[in-house]
Amino acid sequence: MRNGSYAVSVMRNILLASVILISGGTVTAQAADGDAAAGKTVFNTCKACHTIEAGGPNRVGPNLHGIVGRKAGSVDGFSYSAAVKDAGYEWDEQKLDTYLKDPKAALPGNKMAFAGVKDDAKRADLIAYLKSESTK
Ligand code: HEC
Repeated sequence: MRNGSYAVSVMRNILLASVILISGGTVTAQAADGDAAAGKTVFNTCKACHTIEAGGPNRVGPNLHGIVGRKAGSVDGFSYSAAVKDAGYEWDEQKLDTYLKDPKAALPGNKMAFAGVKDDAKRADLIAYLKSESTK
């Protein structure tokens, strides 16, 4: 219902505002344990193959805008491997963490020629960055 969803969005804004207040006025988008600003640097290793901005082109890999919460293998016009196309899930922080740590092990047969980000803190920063870019 229209009014209902308006109320929900007001509630969400109030909640967000209080989260920002509690965290001491920090307004930068930051996931629980990752630093999006630091993650931007980690993303440099992805840029050869991926764009992140809304409507950005596919390169060797698909555009990653909105990747957190997006169905795996769902960018129109990108030729995915069956491994990604048929993964059958939406990317959340946990799934991205597993995949980006070791892509080959997480989704055998996927064609992302990338060894992975082995450092746990860097991966958390990277995912915080992917998340913050998803809402721009
Ligand atoms: C050498 C090129 C290359 C690099 C570097 C690379 N990727 Fe990829 N990526 C790909 C390709 C190709 C695919 C599609 C894989 C498939 O279909 O099997 C992909 C797929 C993905 C997917 C799944 C997308 C979807 O729509 O389901 C994510 C998420 C992803 N990459 C994130 C990253 C991140 C984050 C980095 C940097 C840490 C990175 N990739 C580095 C080539 C690359």
